[in-house]
Amino acid sequence: MSVLTLEGVAKSIGGKKLVEGLTMNVEAGEVYGFLGPNGAGKTTTIRMIVGLIRPSAGIIRIDGYDVQRERAKALAQVGAIVENPETYRYLTGRQNLVHYARLAGLRDIAQRVDEVNAIVGLGDRLDDKVKRYSLGMRQRLGVAQALLARPKLLVLDEPTNGLDPAGIREFRELMRRLAGEGMAVFVSSHLLSELELMCDRVGIIKAGRMVTEQPMADLVGGANKSAFIRVNHPDAAHQALVAAGYTVHPHPEGISLPAAEDVAVAAAVRALVKAEVDVYAVEREQESLEDTFLALTEGKSVESWTEIAAGGGHHA
Ligand SMILES: Nc1ncnc2c1ncn2[C@@H]1O[C@H](COP(=O)(O)OP(=O)(O)OP(=O)(O)O)[C@@H](O)[C@H]1O
Ligand SMILES: [Mg+2]
Repeated sequence: MSVLTLEGVAKSIGGKKLVEGLTMNVEAGEVYGFLGPNGAGKTTTIRMIVGLIRPSAGIIRIDGYDVQRERAKALAQVGAIVENPETYRYLTGRQNLVHYARLAGLRDIAQRVDEVNAIVGLGDRLDDKVKRYSLGMRQRLGVAQALLARPKLLVLDEPTNGLDPAGIREFRELMRRLAGEGMAVFVSSHLLSELELMCDRVGIIKAGRMVTEQPMADLVGGANKSAFIRVNHPDAAHQALVAAGYTVHPHPEGISLPAAEDVAVAAAVRALVKAEVDVYAVEREQESLEDTFLALTEGKSVESWTEIAAGGGHHA
């Protein structure tokens, strides 16, 4: 079920198009990564989703409610961290949560605060003053605050900014857990590597427009994985594989197979053995995701992405 849908959403300010023709949906139980370089329009889009600014065109629905026309009902289903979450640093984490729970008009506040703490795992540290929290702990407190009113959609703008690798991992696990419990999670980043293990799907935005949207597994999968096969006779190996219809790159010590799925590598090894070439080793290399992302967002068109996906962007 779609918890968040955008249909042809656009935003112009002073004649400048910040976001244009944005259409996407986020399902219950999935973590959706919204990826784009600085200035791409991520924060602008998120501000529209959470009702801070209104779209110039298009419709945004949350849990079926139009954010413009049924604002209260729509926004009741969103928990968000946009830019720096507001916290009172001289209060404890618990005092902050109680404060926000009151503002939201929640009941059974003490119990709900314990529940969200159990989810984000601050433990006893919830009773420390926020000024003594690490960045990762503050981030968790922000998530706890966003979860207080039991939203169906969680929206986070660059939540891993500034976190160290351990902090990113904890955050990722938290997001996976929330999605596992049926929440729709929408998270932006300018770094693909931070979203890689967190998201089920990713939408890539550049200059206010969606460039591609696909399952994360496809983006990081076989399409940009190459293989290097080390052999005794590279020339014979090259001939055998070209004869078998492979696109291969010769190398003094072996053969490089760009964009090769596992089955293609296995078949290539079989063809080599049949041609009486000795196989010493098969090395798999993943094209860097950052390379892929940069090629995509700096490239001129969707066509250049298709080329990358097809292996045209392979770097030896
Ligand atoms: N109020 C505004 N008036 C005019 N231009 C704006 C306004 N807010 C943002 N912009 C411009 O819109 C573009 C998109 O900005 P936005 O903040 O949405 O990008 P972003 O993807 O969140 O970038 P970052 O990764 O740096 O956070 C930028 O070129 C920005 O300068
Ligand atoms: Mg931003």
